[in-house]
Amino acid sequence: MINLLCTVRNCHKALQRAEKIFVCPLGHSFDISSRGYVNLLQPQDKRSLNPGDSKQAVVARHRLLMSGQDNRVADKIVEIIKDFNFENFPKILDVGCGEGFYLNSIMNKYSAYASGLDISVEAIDLASRYYKNATWIVTNADRFLPYPDKEFNIVMSITARKNPSEFKRVLLPEGYLLIVVPAPDDLIELRESIMEKGVLRDRSENTLELFNRDFVFLNLSTVKYQQHLNKDLLNDLLLTTYRGARHREKEKFDKLEEMTITFSRQIFCFRPK
Ligand SMILES: C[S@@+](CC[C@H](N)C(=O)[O-])C[C@H]1O[C@@H](n2cnc3c(N)ncnc32)[C@H](O)[C@@H]1O
Ligand SMILES: [Zn+2]
Repeated sequence: MINLLCTVRNCHKALQRAEKIFVCPLGHSFDISSRGYVNLLQPQDKRSLNPGDSKQAVVARHRLLMSGQDNRVADKIVEIIKDFNFENFPKILDVGCGEGFYLNSIMNKYSAYASGLDISVEAIDLASRYYKNATWIVTNADRFLPYPDKEFNIVMSITARKNPSEFKRVLLPEGYLLIVVPAPDDLIELRESIMEKGVLRDRSENTLELFNRDFVFLNLSTVKYQQHLNKDLLNDLLLTTYRGARHREKEKFDKLEEMTITFSRQIFCFRPK
């Protein structure tokens, strides 16, 4: 079971489940949706009326992820987690979990208690439709994370928000942090065709620097594969990336036909200091 805390400012007391709500000792209560997720997002922590990925982006990412011939990032994460050799089922948190694809894939191959959080109601709604055994939470990962100190054995952020101090607080001292970022050659063909030259952007240094104060870096794995995308899937990929460029370079986007795309991800593994 995953323990939750109240997100009302200055409260942060334990939430208890009572039928269709979660309630804290001060009486702050949160409905459990018909699909089973809980929205703990406080109005002051929203950046817009519908923060996070839109329904269109969430559905596009879901179609794209489901179309993959294989799922090498999730497989690699399972391999990494198995090497941790936990004696009991670990507790795993997926921050910015989107529509839950990675957490679902991992849980299909590895037994654990899991929670996924995202600021997008659309994403969490889809996640909770597909996978019932995780605790799905709508909340802002840049603020207080609604879990007790030392709740998790593993915290993951897969191309998502990074909040070092909160990640450290909710992790056990002997826990692990997995941060997945796009490798320099991720989607390089797309960037070449839209921006004329594919700029290689290396995020390693920034990632190491961001976590340096709270975490010890253990190792880095790279997962790289190519997938041929037809026009529909390419369109889905465009819907989930390069928001700014889509407006500026609309003509180039519209002209793109099917193409083979490189997906390349770096997985950084850290332990709390
Ligand atoms: C690039 S997607 C990655 C989704 C998923 N991890 C995956 O790899 O398929 C980033 C996700 O972060 C969410 N997000 C953006 N800002 C957030 C915030 N402040 N707190 C929590 N989630 C956030 C978006 O709604 C989106 O689902
Ligand atoms: Zn409360």
